[in-house]
Amino acid sequence: MEPAPPPALAPGVIPPERIDLGDILLRRWQPGDLEARFEAISASFEHIHPWMPWLAERPTLESQRLHSESADGSWPSPDGGFTFGIFDAAGTVLGAAGLHDRVGPATLEIGYWCHVAHTGRGVITRATAALTDIALKLPGIEQVEIRCDAANLRSAAVPHRLGYRLDRVIPRERLAPAESGFGMIWVKSTAAPDN
Ligand SMILES: CC(C)(COP(=O)(O)OP(=O)(O)OC[C@H]1O[C@@H](n2cnc3c(N)ncnc32)[C@H](O)[C@@H]1OP(=O)(O)O)[C@@H](O)C(=O)NCCC(=O)NCCS
Repeated sequence: MEPAPPPALAPGVIPPERIDLGDILLRRWQPGDLEARFEAISASFEHIHPWMPWLAERPTLESQRLHSESADGSWPSPDGGFTFGIFDAAGTVLGAAGLHDRVGPATLEIGYWCHVAHTGRGVITRATAALTDIALKLPGIEQVEIRCDAANLRSAAVPHRLGYRLDRVIPRERLAPAESGFGMIWVKSTAAPDN
């Protein structure tokens, strides 16, 4: 395994914990979200599992509790992530999206999943647009990447819809069942915000 690159963000440089988009809200996960997140992931298992290595097994409330304790207690999480739950006005979990400081100098990565019952409405595209804008305004950040498997066309449609540029396709280890072994790297940069 390659060593993790040094962080792109200086200590103390962080995104906001709440991003209000009107009818949808992105906010840092709280301990009280445990059951709602567990139910969203459980209901969406067949949808998410093929593409996301962290969901190799059906989740249990206990596995989610352990994950939450290790990942949500600090901002960023110990592995450099800022993960937001996405909620509607009633507080229903629509999905999640994260900014991850793990891909190299001056660059953040965005990842996401959508509750299967709330796909096809633009929730993830809108959340990703907001996170892209915020990321590109953080000091020291010049580029945002979205990495997805070459066969994950719904995921690739998100950066494509937002005007990201497909920078390259690289061979990579298959870590989830539907993956092809090739990863797409989509890029948006401060130098060419409309690329
Ligand atoms: C990848 C994934 C997040 C995409 O979900 P999605 O529902 O297609 O994405 P969005 O929420 O942005 O919805 C987009 C759809 O809403 C439509 N839409 C409606 N209103 C919209 C708006 N205001 N803005 C953008 N799109 C809108 C789009 O046209 C698009 O429709 P289409 O699917 O018919 O083309 C979802 O399929 C998923 O969770 N997959 C499993 C996990 C995964 O693969 N994660 C990524 C790993 S790299």
